Amino acid sequence: MRMFETIKQHRTGWLALLISLSMLGATPATAKDKDDKDGKTAIAASRKTADENEAAALKLRDSPFSKDGVETCVSCHDEENEYPVFPMFKTKHAVKADARTPFGHDNKQCESCHGAGGTHAKAKKVDKRAGNIINFGKNVWTPVKDQNEKCLTCHQTHQRIAWKGSSHEFSQVACASCHKVHTAKDPVLARQTQSRVCFDCHAKEQAKFQQASHHPVREGQMGCTECHDVHGEKGTGALIKATAREKCTSCHAEKRGPFLWEHAPAAEDCNLCHTPHGSNHAALLKKRAPLLCQECHSPAGHPSGRYDGGTLAGSAFLGAKGCANCHSQVHGSNHPSGVTQLR
Ligand code: HEC
Ligand code: HEC
Ligand code: HEC
Ligand code: HEC
Ligand code: HEC
Ligand code: HEC
Ligand code: HEC
Ligand code: HEC
Ligand code: HEC
Ligand code: HEC
Repeated sequence: MRMFETIKQHRTGWLALLISLSMLGATPATAKDKDDKDGKTAIAASRKTADENEAAALKLRDSPFSKDGVETCVSCHDEENEYPVFPMFKTKHAVKADARTPFGHDNKQCESCHGAGGTHAKAKKVDKRAGNIINFGKNVWTPVKDQNEKCLTCHQTHQRIAWKGSSHEFSQVACASCHKVHTAKDPVLARQTQSRVCFDCHAKEQAKFQQASHHPVREGQMGCTECHDVHGEKGTGALIKATAREKCTSCHAEKRGPFLWEHAPAAEDCNLCHTPHGSNHAALLKKRAPLLCQECHSPAGHPSGRYDGGTLAGSAFLGAKGCANCHSQVHGSNHPSGVTQLR
C-alpha cells in the first residue's frame, strides 16, 4: 500500500521522465534488455556496422592458429564455462576415427569451424576477445556468408550441393540459425523438436498448424522436412507445388491411382482442394463443400434444384451441403460404374 502511495506521489515525476525519454526517441530499458546486454547482444554490439564486421572477418583470415588446438581452447572454455562447449564431444563432429570430421586426424578441431583462433586466444584484454574469432548464429557479429562458408567447406557434397540458390541461402539464413552443433542432440534433426526451430521465423505457418485440421507436426509425429527440402531449391514454396502430389501420395498412397475413373483435379494437384499446413474446414480443405466443388462445377449443371422447382437451399442434392456425402470417391474411382464418383 505504502509503495503504491509512493509511486502515486512520484507519478508526475515519472510521467515527465517518460515523456522526455520518448521525446528523445528512447524507451526505458526493460529487465530483458538488461539481460541481453550482459549476454549476446553485448558481443554483437562490439562492432558497429556491417562494413566493419566484413572487414574484421577478412582480417581474421590472416590470424594464426592457436598453439595447441583444442587444448588451447578448452583451457578457457572448460566445463565450468558459462557456454557449454563440451556436449559437442558426444556428436558426429567429434568422431576422431572419422578423418572427415573436425576432430579427425588432419583437421583443426575447434578451429575447423571457428577459424584460426590465435588472435582470439592471445588477446590482451578479456573484453577484446569477442569479435576476434568466428561466431555462429543469428545475433552475432560474423557475417552469415563467412559463417556458412566454414560449414560448407565440408558440407558441399550430396544433399548440401543445392544450398546455393535455395531460398534460405538467398535470404541469408545461417546454417547455425537452424543447427545446434554444441548440443548432444541437434533439435532440428528430430521430428519432435524440429518445428519449434522453424516457427522461430515462420510465424504464419505456426498459426496455420494451430487450426482444427492440420498435419500432426506440432504433435511431433511429422517433421516439416517430410515435405520440404530446406537446403535445396526443392525447398521453395513455389517449386514444391510441382512435386507436391508426388509428396502427398508417398504417404497417402491410396489417393495415387491410377484410377479407372480419374477426377481431373486430384490427378493434377492435391492442393487445388487441400491446403497443406492447416485449415478450419474438415480434412484440410481450402473451402467447404459445396463452395469448393462449385469453384469448378456449375450448380446449374448438376440437378441441384428440387423436382418441384423449389429453391437450391432445399435441394436433396445439397443435403448437409456435402457433395462428398454422395460423391465419396472424389479422389477417383475404380468401380466399373464409378464415373460420377458415387462409388
Ligand atoms: C585465454 C582464454 C581463452 C582462450 C584460450 C580461448 N578463448 Fe574463446 N573466449 C574467451 C572469453 C573470455 C570469451 C568471451 C569474450 C568476451 O566477453 O570478450 C571468449 C569468446 C569466444 C567465442 C565467442 C566470440 C564472439 O565474438 O562472440 C568463441 C566462438 C570462442 N571464444 C571460441 C574459442 C576457440 C575456438 C578457442 C580456441 C582456438 C578459444 N575460444 C580460446 C576466452 C578464451
Ligand atoms: C562443427 C563446427 C564447430 C566446431 C568443431 C566447434 N564449434 Fe563452437 N560453435 C559452433 C556453432 C555453430 C556455434 C553457435 C551455437 C551452436 O550451434 O550451438 C558455436 C558456439 C561456440 C561458442 C559460444 C560463443 C557464444 O556466442 O558465446 C563457444 C565459446 C565455442 N563455440 C567454442 C568452441 C570450442 C572451444 C570448440 C572446440 C572444443 C568448438 N567451439 C568447436 C560450431 C563449432
Ligand atoms: C571439418 C569438416 C566439417 C566442418 C567444418 C563441419 N562439419 Fe558438419 N559434419 C562433418 C562430418 C564428417 C559429419 C558426419 C557425417 C556423417 O556421419 O555422415 C558431419 C555431420 C553434420 C551434421 C549431421 C549430424 C548428425 O547428427 O547427423 C550436421 C547437421 C552438420 N554436420 C552441420 C554442420 C554445420 C552447421 C557446420 C558449420 C557450423 C558444420 N557441420 C561444419 C564435417 C564437418
Ligand atoms: C532452415 C533450417 C536449416 C538451415 C538453414 C540449414 N539446415 Fe541443415 N538440416 C536442416 C534439417 C531440418 C535437417 C534434417 C532433414 C533433412 O535432411 O533435410 C538438416 C540436415 C542437415 C545435415 C545432415 C544431413 C543428413 O542426411 O544426415 C547436414 C550435414 C546439414 N543439415 C548441414 C547444413 C549446412 C552446412 C547448412 C548451411 C549451409 C545447413 N545445414 C542449413 C535444417 C537446416
Ligand atoms: C532464421 C530464420 C529461419 C528459420 C529458422 C527457418 N526459416 Fe524458412 N525461411 C526463412 C526466410 C527468411 C525465407 C525466405 C522468405 C520467405 O519466404 O519467408 C524462408 C523460406 C522458407 C521456405 C520457402 C518459402 C518460399 O516461398 O520459397 C520454406 C519451405 C521454409 N522456409 C521452410 C522452413 C523450415 C521447414 C524450417 C525449419 C526446419 C525453416 N524454414 C526455418 C527463414 C527461416
Ligand atoms: C504435408 C506436407 C507439408 C508439411 C508437413 C509442411 N509443409 Fe510447408 N508447404 C507444403 C506445400 C505443398 C507448400 C506449397 C503450398 C502452396 O504453394 O500453396 C508449402 C509451403 C510452405 C511455405 C511457403 C509459404 C508461402 O506462403 O509461400 C513455407 C514457409 C512452409 N511451407 C513452411 C513449412 C514449415 C515451417 C513446416 C513445418 C512446421 C511445413 N511447411 C510443413 C507442404 C508441407
Ligand atoms: C510424411 C507423410 C505425409 C505426407 C507427405 C502427407 N501427409 Fe497428409 N497426413 C499424414 C498423416 C500422418 C495424417 C494424419 C492422419 C491421421 O490423423 O489419422 C495426414 C492427414 C491428412 C489429411 C486429413 C486431415 C484431417 O484433418 O482429417 C489430408 C486431407 C491430408 N493429409 C492431405 C495431404 C496432402 C494434400 C499432402 C501433400 C501436400 C499430404 N497430406 C502429405 C501424413 C502425410
Ligand atoms: C477435388 C477436390 C480434391 C482434390 C483435388 C483432392 N482431394 Fe482429398 N479430399 C477432398 C474432400 C472433399 C475430402 C473429404 C472427403 C469426405 O468428407 O469424405 C478429402 C479428403 C482427403 C483425405 C482424408 C480422408 C481420407 O479419405 O483419407 C486425404 C488423406 C486426402 N483427401 C488426400 C488427398 C490427396 C493426397 C490428394 C492428391 C492426390 C487429394 N486429396 C486431392 C477433396 C479433394
Ligand atoms: C479445380 C476444379 C475442380 C474442383 C474443385 C472439383 N472438380 Fe469435379 N471435376 C473437375 C473436372 C475438370 C472434371 C472432369 C470433367 C469432364 O471430364 O468433363 C470433374 C469431374 C467431376 C465429376 C464427374 C463428372 C462426369 O460427368 O464424369 C464429378 C462427379 C465431380 N467432378 C464432382 C466433384 C465434387 C463432388 C467436387 C467437390 C468435392 C469437385 N468435383 C471439385 C474439376 C473440379
Ligand atoms: C444426394 C446425393 C448427391 C449429392 C448430395 C450431390 N450429388 Fe452430384 N450426383 C448425384 C448423382 C446420383 C449423380 C448422377 C446423375 C446421373 O447420372 O444422371 C450426380 C452427378 C453429378 C455430376 C455429373 C454431371 C451431372 O451433372 O450429371 C457432377 C459434376 C456432380 N454430381 C457434382 C455435384 C456437386 C458439385 C455436388 C455438391 C454441390 C453434388 N454433386 C451433390 C448425387 C449427388
